[in-house]
This record gives sequence, structure tokens and C-alpha cells, in this order.
Amino acid sequence: MCPQDAKATIPIVPVAPSIAPTHERKWPAEGSSRAPYWVYTDPDIYAQEQARIFQGQTWNYLGLEAEVPEPGSFKTTYIGEQSVVLTRAEDGSLHAVLNRCAHRGNMVCREAFGKAKKLYCVYHAWNYNLQGDLTHAAFAHGLRGEGGLPKDFKNSEHGLRKLRVDTLCGLVFASFSDDTPPLEEWLGDVAQGIRRVLHKPLKVLGYDTQRIHANWKAYHENPRDSYHANILHTFYGTFGLSRQSQESGMTLDASGRHVYFYTKAGTEKSSKDFDKTASDLRSHNEGLKLEDPSILKWRDEFGDGVSVQILTAYPSFVLHQIANSLATRQLLPKGPGQCDLVWTYFGFEDDDEATTQVRLTQANLAGSAGMISVEDAAVCEMMQKAMADGQSGESFIEMGGKDLVSGGSSKLSERAIRNFWHNYRHDMGLA
Ligand code: FES
Ligand SMILES: [Fe+2]
Repeated sequence: MCPQDAKATIPIVPVAPSIAPTHERKWPAEGSSRAPYWVYTDPDIYAQEQARIFQGQTWNYLGLEAEVPEPGSFKTTYIGEQSVVLTRAEDGSLHAVLNRCAHRGNMVCREAFGKAKKLYCVYHAWNYNLQGDLTHAAFAHGLRGEGGLPKDFKNSEHGLRKLRVDTLCGLVFASFSDDTPPLEEWLGDVAQGIRRVLHKPLKVLGYDTQRIHANWKAYHENPRDSYHANILHTFYGTFGLSRQSQESGMTLDASGRHVYFYTKAGTEKSSKDFDKTASDLRSHNEGLKLEDPSILKWRDEFGDGVSVQILTAYPSFVLHQIANSLATRQLLPKGPGQCDLVWTYFGFEDDDEATTQVRLTQANLAGSAGMISVEDAAVCEMMQKAMADGQSGESFIEMGGKDLVSGGSSKLSERAIRNFWHNYRHDMGLA
């Protein structure tokens, strides 16, 4: 130490208050009508979610059957942070395997999509068939009496980790668990919201991947949150695609994990109804006009008047119908403070060109820069900033009531969010 340093006054820094380790964390006494901010920020919580939720007793969305249309087609995606490959084998069956070589853990499949006869690890050339079975390991018998795998090595014991796969109306889900009920049973009453939209063969129109600088749960809450939809989103309220004064409703499955909401445009009972709900809302802005209102022209293609249906399956799937825009959203956690949202826009195989153009135009309502969806990511990021230290504070989730049933089927409710936290706490063991 130099003499000047020895004489310098060193400010006394107060000792930081001790932070409770994860295992000592206590959920607020009010239960699932509160969410403590540490649950969005704590890296230990985040690590446990990978095992207890994404690799636990859940079904996770992988993609559309239409994305792996032929024998040999594959798609690389994720469940939580774990890379997974979805394949279609020669016999047309679908398979999901961990994208992690059974030899030394290398990523076997590097392309997002493709067609192949086998999965081939570049590191030491272990080969797997499209079901994930090991078919060949390079130099398994050595060369000139040197090297080689042990005599008791069996290919059948060194395949890729296989996951359960199940489908519904062209959606493909996978699970790490043998105990989770079949997909349709697991979705319960919410499956009808999927059957309503996905009623015939699908055609992929495009993709959009959005990095959101917020914890995945901040986003997962958002499409479960029917309370915000007509308040935050100026485009919905001002141009009438969805307003609180319109006919609307909510369906939760019996477990409370999954939910969908619907709204029927143009069903206000009277203009007074609308004026009352809109009077103090920032989202109703009479001064806004569209130069080209064609984005608002939609066709009631399902014949039930529903202009918006947003469906969320725990923990990582959203299906939307916003006018004639149809898309799935896959939620992928990327660390405690960020997540990716992968949007897959689709139509139907028998759509004519005009219908496809309408869907593509209305895709501008959703996605990372969508006139509606842009506000959701912005709010999630502001939440994450505001709760940054995660050491104090909690959400207050009592719109429509305090418990898991109050709020009924009203959209003016946080019932689906209370049910999310109820299931989350159960899965995480956070009493
Ligand atoms: S890590 Fe895949 S063959 Fe060695
Ligand atoms: Fe929203």
C-alpha cells in the first residue's frame, strides 16, 4: 500500500441487509393473490423452475405438425432452456428427443429446420435414427486392435433421451413426465378453444422471435390477464376490436392452469355502456384515426362473432385469434431477467390468396412491433426494471376477488392469474 492510500479516509459502507436464501423464502400470507417480487428475479428460483416446471409434470409446446410435414423433417426448439429436436420418422410418427448427444453431451442438431435420414453428432460421429436410438458409433470396434468401446456396450442403452409427445389439432407438445395425463385431458375445458380455431389443416405463414427483457412469468401472466387488455391497448379500445363493454367471457380448466378469453366486437348494449367504460381510459383515444383502415376489416370465419380469443396453456403456450390473424406463441425462458417469445403465424391449407393477404396484414397487430402486442412486452420490461432488486414488495392480485373461484367467467378479473400462482407454488414447493 502506498503512503497516500494509508492516510486516505476510507468511507464506511454499511453492511447490506442479509438476503434470505431461497429455501428460507416465504410466500406472502395472503397466498395466490400475491406474488413476491423475488420470484421474478431470484436466480435460484429460476434454476429450480427448469427442473420442477419445464422438465416437470407439464406439456410444453414444440410447434405445429405442419412444420415437420414429411418423413425425415425435423425442427430444433426448446423446452425451458433445454434444446429439443422434434422429428417425423419414416413411418410418419412424431418424436421428441433431447438435443444432447448420449456420448459427451454435444448438441446433435444445429439447424432450426431440415430434412435428414439420421441425426449425426459431429464431435465423434455417433449416429441416431429419427426416433433417437443410437444406430452407430464411430470406431466402436477400434482399429487394428486398439481403442473401441467396451465389449458390453449396447447401442440400445445409449440413445438420445426420449420425451413423450402428444398432439391436438395440429399442435405438438412434449413432456418429460410419464405421469402427466394425456394432452387433451390435461388441457381440460380449454381444449375446446383450440378445437374452435384449429379446425382444419394448417399452413405456416411466417415467424417472428422477440427477446423480452423480463422474467418469463411476467410475460406468462400477461395473456392470462384479461383485466389489462382493454386498458393498456389503445388499438383495441379506440378501434373497437375489443372493449370491456362488449360481450366477453373466460374459460379456465378445472386445475386453473389453462385459460382462454373471448370478446365479440360490436356487441356493446348501448353507446352509454361504452362511454362509461372508456371515459377515463388512456386506451380510448378519439383523436386517433387510421389512414388506411383495411387492417380492421375482418371476416367472422368461425361464425360465432368472436373478434378476439386469447388462449394460454401453462407454462409456455399461447394461441391467438385477433380478427383473422392466427398465431401460436412459444415462451422460452433465457435467464431470470429475459425470455424469448416465438410467434408462428399461420392460416389454413385451403385459404385463398385474398385470405392469406388479410392474415398477413393483420399480423401487424401482433408480434414484436405489433400495434397491440408492442405494449405487452413494454409493460413486462418496465415491471422487471421496477422490481429489479427483488428483495421487497409483491403484486396485489385481487381484481374480481381474492380466491381461485371469485371473478367467475368475467374478463374484468385476475382470477386466471391467481390460479397461475396457485399452480406455480404447488409445482415449486413454495408454500
Ligand atoms: S459428443 Fe456426440 S459423438 Fe461425442
Ligand atoms: Fe396485452
